[in-house]
Parts: sequence; C-alpha cells; structure tokens
Amino acid sequence: MMSVGILGTGTALPEKVITNHDLAKIVDTSDQWITERTGIKERRQAAANETTSSLSVQAARRALEMAGIEPKALDLIICSTISPDMPLPSTAALIQRDLGARACCAFDLAAACSGFLYALTTAKQFIQTGLYKNALVIASEKITSYVDWNDRNTCILFGDGAGACVLAPVRKDRGILSEYLHAQGHFGDLMMVVAGEREPLDQKTKTILLPHIAMQGQELFRVAVHSMAEAVEIAVHKAGLKLSDIDCVVPHQANDRIITAVARQLEIPKDKIFVNIDKYGNMSAASIAVALYEAVKEKRIQKGDIVALVTFGAGLVSAANVVRW
Ligand code: ACO
Repeated sequence: MMSVGILGTGTALPEKVITNHDLAKIVDTSDQWITERTGIKERRQAAANETTSSLSVQAARRALEMAGIEPKALDLIICSTISPDMPLPSTAALIQRDLGARACCAFDLAAACSGFLYALTTAKQFIQTGLYKNALVIASEKITSYVDWNDRNTCILFGDGAGACVLAPVRKDRGILSEYLHAQGHFGDLMMVVAGEREPLDQKTKTILLPHIAMQGQELFRVAVHSMAEAVEIAVHKAGLKLSDIDCVVPHQANDRIITAVARQLEIPKDKIFVNIDKYGNMSAASIAVALYEAVKEKRIQKGDIVALVTFGAGLVSAANVVRW
C-alpha cells in the first residue's frame, strides 16, 4: 500500500497573551496553583476580528509553502474544529475560499481535542485509495469563545491557535506508519459545551446566556491517562514497533501532569516527550498540530525519527498515530 507523509507544517497563534497573573485578577486562583496543577503559564486569545478560519488560513499558507504546493493544486481540505466561525458554511469552505483553492473538496471534522489525528487518518485514507493526490489538514480553535471567565476550574486551561499540515504520498518506509481511533461515548458527560449563564472576560457587559465549557476535571484526568497510554501502545504495535523504538512523543497538551502520568505508565523517559503547554494551554484540536510544528523546528524531531502522536478529548475520543519523519 502507498505510504502517506507530512510534507509541510505551519501554525498561527493570536498575539494576545493571557498570563496566569491576568487570570488571578478575575478569579480566585494563583500562578503557583495553575503552574503546579497544569504546567500552564500563559495562553493566547484570538482578537474579536480573528476567527477560526482566519487563523487556519495563516497556518495553511505556511504549511503549503513548506510543502511547495500551490493552493490551486489542492485536492482536499479538512478542518478539524469544535469552534467553527459559524455552523454553515463550514470553516473548511471558508478556508478554501480565502486560499483560492478552487479545485478541491472541503469539509469540517469535529472530534474535540482528537480532531487533528482523526483528520490526519481521514485524509490519509483518501490519498491511499488513490481518490486524491494530496490533502491539507488544519486543526484550528477559537475555544476561548466557550470559556466561562468566571469558572476557575476551566478558564485557566484553554487557549486559541491553529496548526496545519500538507499530506501527500512519500517513499515506502516513511510517513504515517499506523493509526488508532477510538471513541467512548459513555464518558460524554465528563466535558460538554452547555448553554447557560456566563460572564464575559471584560466584565463590563451583564451576565449573558451563552454556550460554555462544563467539565468534571478529576474523572477526565483519570480516563485521559489510561486512554492515551492505551492508544500509544496499540498504534506502536500496529506499526510493528516497540515502545523503545519511539524517538519523540507529541501528546495532546491538556495538562502536564496527564502527560507525565502517561510517560510513566508507558515507561518512556520524559525527555522524549514534547511539551509546550506552558506557552499555550489546551488549544483542543490545534494542540498537537502546533506542538508537532514546534518539535520539528526545535529539532526535537529529525529526519528518520519514529514519532508517536497521541491524544484524548471530549467525547471521550482518543487517537494515536506513529510516523516515521
Ligand atoms: N485555582 C485555585 N484553586 C482551584 C482552581 C484554580 N484555578 N481550580 C480548582 N481549584 C480548587 C478546587 O475548587 C478544589 O478546592 P476544594 O478542595 O476546596 O474543593 C481544589 O482546587 C482541588 O480541585 P481539583 O479539581 O481536585 O484539582 P485537580 O488537581 O484535579 O486539578 C484540573 C484540576 C487541573 C482541572 C485537573 O483535574 C485536570 O487537568 N483535569 C483534566 C482536564 C482536561 O484535560 N480537560 C480537557 C480535556 S478535553 C479537551 O482537551 C478538549
């Protein structure tokens, strides 16, 4: 079967930084508590005129440039997001319009924090079957639009951002070696976006009824560790490799303590795990896409390395891929 790999990556991060100290001014928390419990120091927030699609387009242009592919040569765009600009048109269609990628199909995919890996595997199938020659996969979130800035349990965790990658056929022994996708819908109520009262960040406006994140953090933590460790083990096994073959793990950045617990369970040294949660918090689907870009840029991933990508998210959905870079 044809091998499919990542030819280019790109990111886009909003300029506005919200530090832990900023949050301590609006809810009863502290930099020390947030750092110790999550590893997060700061996160980004999209400006009012920045959208999931506008961040996506910036990230996509960078990935296409690296891959040396013109937008008009694209066959497929998948945008993974749970914070689309609007229910319709799809964010992928807006991205297609703004890139000028006339000759492709485009659709959104929603799998919360597992969205990037769900999209990667979906795109890979289209190329492997021969239906398309290439694909642009974008994971992009303006998830702070669902944050209740009055809830210290959740408002400390999330940030906005986008990551993109371009997929195409590669040499036989390279690219995406295996995939694992899983869903446990019975854990769905551990994290939901529900409609209800919430106060905006600026606190000038009155409390308004808006969708916002409701989460059972401790239970989610426990299921996340088990699900991520299991996903890595299965994907590594499917690739015909051993855990000791992994050069770098790029995990979903939800909580540094979750990442540490997964590393311990798998007996993978923490220095093989890429972590950037301190700078961005949890960007849902975009977290792994941005982390992958940064791991390559910082040469934590080199040509020929075996890389494990692993995630979990609301649903509960989990996924992993093993890639030879
Ligand atoms: N600052 C200070 N105190 C806080 C804060 C805060 N920001 N938030 C909660 N607390 C308090 C609680 O009220 C509680 O106080 P109490 O003992 O008086 O009741 C105490 O701290 C301990 O609260 P816990 O919930 O037990 O804290 P925990 O150590 O579990 O950390 C956290 C909470 C960070 C949310 C953790 O459970 C976690 O990360 N869970 C996973 C969350 C996650 O991954 N979400 C996203 C997944 S899905 C997706 O990625 C889209």
